Amino acid sequence: MTKVTVIGAGNVGATCANVLAHKDIVNEVVLLDIVGDLAKGKALDSWQQAPIDYYSTKIKGTDNYRDTKNSDVVVITAGVPRKPGMSRDDLISTNARIVKMVTKSVVKYSKKAIIIIVSNPLDVMSLAAWETSGFPASRVFGMAGILDTARYRAFLATALDVSPKDIQALLMGGHGDTMVPLPRYTTVAGIPVTELIGKDELKAIVNRTRKGGGELVGLMGTSAWYAPGAAAAQMVEAILKDEKRVFPVCAYLNGEYGMKGIFLGVPVKLGRKGIEKIIEVKLNKTEMKLMEKSAKHVREVIKTYKGMDI
Ligand code: NAI
Ligand code: 2OP
Repeated sequence: MTKVTVIGAGNVGATCANVLAHKDIVNEVVLLDIVGDLAKGKALDSWQQAPIDYYSTKIKGTDNYRDTKNSDVVVITAGVPRKPGMSRDDLISTNARIVKMVTKSVVKYSKKAIIIIVSNPLDVMSLAAWETSGFPASRVFGMAGILDTARYRAFLATALDVSPKDIQALLMGGHGDTMVPLPRYTTVAGIPVTELIGKDELKAIVNRTRKGGGELVGLMGTSAWYAPGAAAAQMVEAILKDEKRVFPVCAYLNGEYGMKGIFLGVPVKLGRKGIEKIIEVKLNKTEMKLMEKSAKHVREVIKTYKGMDI
């Protein structure tokens, strides 16, 4: 019996639960929100989709943490999204409180769970959840890299008029405008992307990727959910199937890349135990400088978080 809980039945949480149900890899998905009827309604709607789309995953909506008992994986999406003009960092005062409170309740009922954080500002909310949980860092980490890399891959697929399936890429650093897409580690079916696209066009795509979240906030008045929800579900799948997938994940660094005491996006091996290995790729001087700049920004947000009275 496998069980996954998604906390927050808003745009990202409900999408994640629905994508997970479609994958038919979990016996039960529990969708919990502080607004109980919202979770119950979205769960019921997803269950009524099962006869149409042919899945057996049971989905339960609730506002009671007792229903989350013994979850294998918990995805935390609770919190507020940004509005136009806001950065992810502007969400910290509201979301840090929510993420800490939610993590405490999750841990109370699921001591062996793996926790995936989605709430923003992601890198610092991952730290907050990890500190609150008392779990090893291999079992608490954040989703952002799969989403940011998917945006980069999608932009490249459009520019080159090829299938997004054939674009492989690596993107590291914090989940913000300082993220570090790595053209040197980007290929189209094994062909270095630099052989297929001009320097200026590639640079424009890298910049658009960095601001990819903001572009969608500008268009929709709130942040994205289809790709974020699917990205979190893909992480859950890798864990439950012990796939050993290599994904960029917001992970705790303890000396890797010369950094300590910070959560940052890096490539990891993801399996049934959570993060089974942090992969240290060789970065050149320019790439390392960009990583350090990104880490510096995340450390500033950590300072704000540490200064909060919570
Ligand atoms: P939303 O507003 O649609 O949903 C958030 C849900 O959290 C609401 O239903 C709300 O009732 C619930 N909630 C608030 N406090 C709660 C609590 N204490 N316990 C349980 N539920 C609670 O927001 P959306 O669009 O789903 O985004 C959720 C979060 O994910 C935001 O912080 C957003 O910035 C972040 N995000 C992160 C991404 C990433 O790549 N890491 C991508 C997209 C969004
Ligand atoms: C995104 O990148 C807001 O973090 C969210 O869409």
